[in-house]
Amino acid sequence: MVKSSFIYLSLVVLTSFVLMGSTCTSNAKKTSTGHGYAAFHPGEIWLDTDSVHINAHGGGILFHEGTYYWFGEHKVAGRGGNRAMVGVSCYSSSDLMNWTSCGIALPVATDTLSEITKGCVIERPKVIYNEKTGMFVMWFHLELKDQGYAAARTGLAISDKVSGPYTYVKSFRPNAGIWPMEMTNPSRDTGKYNHLKWWTPEWRKAVEEGLFVQYDFEKGQMSRDMTLFVDDDGKAYHIHSAEENLTLHISELTPDYQDFTGKWTRIFPGGHNEAPALFKRGGKYYLIASGCTGWDPNAARSFVSNSIWGPWEALGNPCIGPDSALTFQSQSTYVLPVQGKEDAYIFMADRWRPRNPIDGRYIWLPISFEDEKPVIEFNEKWDLSVFE
Ligand code: GAL
Repeated sequence: MVKSSFIYLSLVVLTSFVLMGSTCTSNAKKTSTGHGYAAFHPGEIWLDTDSVHINAHGGGILFHEGTYYWFGEHKVAGRGGNRAMVGVSCYSSSDLMNWTSCGIALPVATDTLSEITKGCVIERPKVIYNEKTGMFVMWFHLELKDQGYAAARTGLAISDKVSGPYTYVKSFRPNAGIWPMEMTNPSRDTGKYNHLKWWTPEWRKAVEEGLFVQYDFEKGQMSRDMTLFVDDDGKAYHIHSAEENLTLHISELTPDYQDFTGKWTRIFPGGHNEAPALFKRGGKYYLIASGCTGWDPNAARSFVSNSIWGPWEALGNPCIGPDSALTFQSQSTYVLPVQGKEDAYIFMADRWRPRNPIDGRYIWLPISFEDEKPVIEFNEKWDLSVFE
């Protein structure tokens, strides 16, 4: 008798813990029953289910056990509001329109010696789930406090629960001491480049030959704007702007997704591509990126390849119609495959508000394909029926 009531009590306690842990998931399910948004309204204030403007900029989405989780930069009001004063936020949704706050997935540290101490810069966080380890793995662009954008590191945090809390593990510059796969006969004579003036044809040629790869060979390659991609075979890749944002690098992650294997390649050396978003459709890899103009919008670019390792082919600006030359005043952050729908991809971008970062807007638009090329058009109000 005593034993069975003990078992009963333990079950009650255990169940309440499990329920506490999943509050954010169950709330999300409630929102899908109808109230709230029935459409996407790109560029407008987007309220969460507590009626607060969603605070998840430069974000990415993980679909896990029937629920979408949106991770992004938590920004604050006013100038300087781009610094990480709080951490990485997480929201959940089952319909992609109504989002419930799951709170802060990765809080900044109060310890001033921590690499992610309050006031550092944490940008473009992305989370992927590792089937083998059962761990959620978050990578993000990290800039150390008070160092501007000089550190150019990638940071890692992990959790066994999707909405966190995530534990900060480490940050570094990728691929230190390792040449990209295509540089089979690398030169270490960086001195020969010292006289070159930026933007001259000679300098551009040197960039293509790997001038910056060579400069950063020992300390590791720069890693700023980034994204993650998990392929059908379970392999994951870290894609980031390197070489002073001149060249994108694609690196393979280890089977647990928590490190780099050392296999990496450069795409479009000197192409000045930022804000990468990678997805796969019909066996082909697609990449959408922006040019490099800081918080100001510019024209997006798209690329396609039969292999993640290239060769990549440039397809030009995927955006069409009014304001397409400025990506509808926004910059790519992620391409989201919609679950349960054929050929349904959402282009996710940020309309930055650098003077008041918390007011930044989200531009989510459906991607269509013409002659196997991605096409994005502005639509001030749309819903998932466009994919039918
Ligand atoms: C953008 C980049 C943003 C942020 C910003 C800082 O080009 O995409 O993520 O780093 O520069 O100026």
